[in-house]
Amino acid sequence: MWLADNWKDYEVLDCSEGEKLERWGKYRLLRPDPQVIWNTPKEPSLWGKLNAHYHRSTKGGGEWEFFDLPEQWSIGYLDLKFNLKPFSFKHTGLFPEQAVNWDWMRGILKEAISKNPGREFKVLNLFAYTGGATLACAAEGYIHRANPGDGQSSPISVTHVDASKGMVNWAKENAASSGLADAPIRYLVDDCQKFVEREIRRGNRYDAIIMDPPSYGRGPKGEIWKLEESLFPFVELCTKILSEKPVFFLINSYTTGLQPAVLSYMINYLIAKRFGGKTEADEIGLPVSSSGLVLPCGASGRWQMSY
Ligand SMILES: C[S@@+](CC[C@H](N)C(=O)[O-])C[C@H]1O[C@@H](n2cnc3c(N)ncnc32)[C@H](O)[C@@H]1O
Repeated sequence: MWLADNWKDYEVLDCSEGEKLERWGKYRLLRPDPQVIWNTPKEPSLWGKLNAHYHRSTKGGGEWEFFDLPEQWSIGYLDLKFNLKPFSFKHTGLFPEQAVNWDWMRGILKEAISKNPGREFKVLNLFAYTGGATLACAAEGYIHRANPGDGQSSPISVTHVDASKGMVNWAKENAASSGLADAPIRYLVDDCQKFVEREIRRGNRYDAIIMDPPSYGRGPKGEIWKLEESLFPFVELCTKILSEKPVFFLINSYTTGLQPAVLSYMINYLIAKRFGGKTEADEIGLPVSSSGLVLPCGASGRWQMSY
């Protein structure tokens, strides 16, 4: 399993009875987690001090109960800063387990920049939410920009696509908080499928593609996305906008039952057969500090170019 174990501002303190107890900076949140099927004892000194609790409703959805939590606060990860706020469906605006994928992307981009001086890399982040992966890639480029006074001279540009205007605005705020307001990031409110189809027609190509599609989603005009039916044709479509020498491709999924080997099969068939390189897939997870065990969070499939 790939573990997001580089966090300082975030930790899973414990998990039991369908819920996980987390520390986000100095605030403790208790949120539902369907993976937590164990009823392990709850240490009162840990579980007694909550800032907010998201209660799942039996009718679907749920609601937040607040004790002492500001409307918005922020946490850092390496050189990135994320604005958090509790909102619908237990979200805070960040999936902390994705940090293990951000580290992986940055490592690949760093190596690609050092091995290809002068080359510019175009990254596409689909279903991009509040921009965690967008900022990780943009920050790596920013470190290597040709002119330290000019963010636009970064060797990495990122196109960020999400159907929700609110999420895209939130990503822009996160970029500003992370000191990346002038980095070359193009923000688009669009349906991912329609966007990729247009990019094929326009002849635009990308060196790296990231996608974290929901199990079920809707585009801005109500376009329906159902992962089991939509993923393979969509990945196939995305391979048409890969450049001649792509550097990575990442698919993440939170859909229960979608095993890493399924991602690996699709990536091997659609990408590795054509470009060579290396495919890997695994579960991603977060360490649980009170037990020393690991909470599984989802699955990722990764392809990278080998030099
Ligand atoms: C599971 S979240 C992605 C999580 C994010 N990548 C991360 O790790 O922080 C799914 C996102 O996909 C967006 N979305 C859903 N259907 C879409 C569609 N058809 N086109 C574009 N975005 C869509 C939603 O607005 C939401 O922001």
